Amino acid sequence: MTNVQTLLKEHRTFPPVPAETLGFAKWHVGSLEEYKKLHARSIQNPEAFWAEEAQKLAWFQHWDHVLSWDAPDAKWFVNGKLNACYNCVDRHVQSGHGDSCALVWEGEPMAPRTSHPTAASKYASEPEIKRVTYRELQEQTSRVANALKHLGVKKGDVVTIYMPMVPELVIAILACARIGAAHSVIFGGFAPHAISERAMDAHSRVIITADGGYRRGEVVPLQKNVEEAVNQLANHGHIINHVLVLKRTGHEPPSTRFASGTTPANVKATSIHPPTKFHWWHDLVARVSDACPCEVMDSEDMLFLLYTSGSTGKPKGIQHTTGGYLTFVNTTARLTFNLVPDTSQMFWCSADIGWITGHSYVLYGLLMNRVPTLLFEGAPNFPDNGRFWDIIARHKVTQFYTAPTAIRTFMKWGTEWPEKYDLSSLRVLGTVGEPINPEAWIWYHENIGRKRCPIVDTYWQTETGGHVVTPLPGATPTKPGSCTLPMLGIDAAIVNEQGEELGANQGGLFCIRKPWPGMLRGVYGNRERFISNYWGRLKDPKTGTPFYFSADGARRDEDGYFWVQGRVDDVIKVSGHLLGTMEVESALVSHPAVAEAAVVGVPHEIKGSGIVAFVTLKGSWATKNPGRQPDDALRAELTSHVAKEVGALAKPDQIRFAEGLPKTRSGKIMRRLLRDVAAGVEKITQDTTTLEDFSVVAKLRADEE
Ligand code: PRX
Repeated sequence: MTNVQTLLKEHRTFPPVPAETLGFAKWHVGSLEEYKKLHARSIQNPEAFWAEEAQKLAWFQHWDHVLSWDAPDAKWFVNGKLNACYNCVDRHVQSGHGDSCALVWEGEPMAPRTSHPTAASKYASEPEIKRVTYRELQEQTSRVANALKHLGVKKGDVVTIYMPMVPELVIAILACARIGAAHSVIFGGFAPHAISERAMDAHSRVIITADGGYRRGEVVPLQKNVEEAVNQLANHGHIINHVLVLKRTGHEPPSTRFASGTTPANVKATSIHPPTKFHWWHDLVARVSDACPCEVMDSEDMLFLLYTSGSTGKPKGIQHTTGGYLTFVNTTARLTFNLVPDTSQMFWCSADIGWITGHSYVLYGLLMNRVPTLLFEGAPNFPDNGRFWDIIARHKVTQFYTAPTAIRTFMKWGTEWPEKYDLSSLRVLGTVGEPINPEAWIWYHENIGRKRCPIVDTYWQTETGGHVVTPLPGATPTKPGSCTLPMLGIDAAIVNEQGEELGANQGGLFCIRKPWPGMLRGVYGNRERFISNYWGRLKDPKTGTPFYFSADGARRDEDGYFWVQGRVDDVIKVSGHLLGTMEVESALVSHPAVAEAAVVGVPHEIKGSGIVAFVTLKGSWATKNPGRQPDDALRAELTSHVAKEVGALAKPDQIRFAEGLPKTRSGKIMRRLLRDVAAGVEKITQDTTTLEDFSVVAKLRADEE
């Protein structure tokens, strides 16, 4: 396979197909003309469009007016009252769908399907599967909501959630929404430091976790990570009052065992009073009532915080509110995947709920639309490389949504894996998280969609809440590599630094010129960052009103199709996950051997971007104070140090030792130069005696920067 950057020349356009050929009664938007008409109308009068969409939710009290816009502050559905859990669960029970399937969950452990002699497994041949109805969700969310209340959680509090992909994660999130507490979910792959940093920023006093989760057959020690985070927080004077622990794996080591309501031995913060109490989920939930009314929330009350990486080392708590976010996600899920409320569809988004894709399109968008959502706990290659296709075949998945990185990995594994399975239930395929290279698009189309299924390449961000540029499967002819046209109600444009719209094929900055309901309402506790990151750079040249800037470079072609070129700030997309270069740099310099670090992204065949770290060491091997040697042992140590500080996804692909980093006269690291240097060398340099000497290049380039 070629490098992601060396793109196949692919000029084909793929027209939409009739709805019936894919088993749909109709497309919600059935032609390009219809889309264009609807889009034009939605942009001329966004308030009318979004009011109509908001009517599809259940409101306890109607809004006074649709939008109040004092840029960059938007209030949607002003004074409207509703509850997110009610919209996802109770409403369906009340309308007679209590016994319908809301979610299907499949646990990871299972034996390989192959009859290969080495395939013996400690696991059963069939995986554990649970089907949860709306009525069960209502009962369970009520119980957990009451358990949270028992732990002192009140409306407006932030509850941190760090769990594996199990039904109880959905229940925990909805339980928070039920009582009006905001949830802040942290991806289970993050390290203790990431938990403590986020819990502290969010002023969160309660954490929900599990003893462990399964990943590639191994147990991820979630409870242990929380214990470490609790200790770190206590050292900073931030006390976690309670931790609610779901028993998932039952593998906890003796040191982390605890009796419900006590403090495990690992939690050293016992000098604090009262000490952090750990409670077993099953114990607490059994002791409370299964009736808990849904709190009446204002449309603009915070529904959740989700931390995302920025160009500084500190993650940003992106704030989403109730009415606007739910309306936007309900609409975009329905239109992009042609959802129809019933059980004839089975939607599977393979993202973890710890990311925005999981929030919007595993959980909220699906439950609100009353379409069963599939949750898978594990990895695509456990117990073998056919797991995803096996899941699609067994559960008759109709819409499948995944990331380009995953598709490139499947390509590497070969077509023999999907070929073994019946994928004929599939109707629409989606991708998200990073640009998809045409090779991967075509592979997905041919080998997974079997040339029948439309592909929706959805462009959006944690901050946008839902899809802002995407094909609609019945309306938009697709071009591999392009996320095509704006969502209804989204006024997207490519502009220059002056905010002027650019002509066809001129590269510029991606912006959204009008507010939309799913837009972020703030960066938690950091107004300045909210303004400078998103609203400070671009404005309407005529009125001076700020435009929302996504920090992506893009162009539109002669048909108005968007082609996203990638980030223009110091964040990189590694396997579709956003990582601030500063986060990795801070982790590296926290190692005692490291003096300075500069991290850049380089094109990577599978991951989209790989991480290259240039590192200088304390002391000098040439002087009396030798410091640590720049060798492979140190490379390995630094790699695991980053994994420990941030999480495995931040591990550098290459660590390159340098005598000094190239800097401008004003002392700024010349990142552009480092990117060039990093991109020029494909392989990790194993020759530990070669140290990068940037002094010459730096002198040459100093005047340019
Ligand atoms: O650079 C864009 C890229 O992902 C960024 C947003 O990342 P995050 O907030 O983690 O959300 C990911 C899931 C929505 C964007 O600024 N991105 C996302 N989707 C696409 C994309 N780039 C190109 N094409 C896409 N479809």
